[in-house]
Amino acid sequence: MVMWVFGYGSLIWKAGFHYDDRLFGFIKGYRRVFYQGSTDHRGTQEYPGRTVTLEAAEREVCWGVAYKISRMEDEQIALTYLEVREKQYDKKAYIDFFTDPMALTPAVSGVMVYIASPDRKLNPNYLGPASIEEIAKQIVRAEGPSGPNRDYLFQLEKALIQYGCEDKHVMGLANEVRRVLSEMELIFS
Ligand code: SIN
Repeated sequence: MVMWVFGYGSLIWKAGFHYDDRLFGFIKGYRRVFYQGSTDHRGTQEYPGRTVTLEAAEREVCWGVAYKISRMEDEQIALTYLEVREKQYDKKAYIDFFTDPMALTPAVSGVMVYIASPDRKLNPNYLGPASIEEIAKQIVRAEGPSGPNRDYLFQLEKALIQYGCEDKHVMGLANEVRRVLSEMELIFS
């Protein structure tokens, strides 16, 4: 059986596993939000970073990349790798994936996606909503084993722009982070 994995965060620009095909498209009924705390990749226990998760949202869509993994061995390797990399995402969902906004039937059904849920018992790192200013300050400050939190945001912004996708939450946050950084430069220069 072929497996498909949908990426809407770092998985867009870095798969990290072998795949046979990739499609740019979207899932329905969710929006991408910087509400997940990261203490393993883009932050620490002391200063958690923020990474994206999905929030249920009627009539909204979230664009990203779906990866096709055909061979059983590749599937096992990819799953083992992803279970470690996405270990702070407590939920896996299987969702319809579309490539054509006019289509009524999905391009692929049952695409696997990692979600960090707002249930703090299952997901103690969940940070949830905050103002753009607050989220930006946290991102500017945080850094973890995978690098600065701001790089995660800027790489996501770049990847989405390359695909011609304008995500207002991501772009607005990236602009605010740039504003904070240039303000800090002025203060320290
Ligand atoms: C994803 O990319 O699909 C999950 C969130 C992340 O690893 O950034």
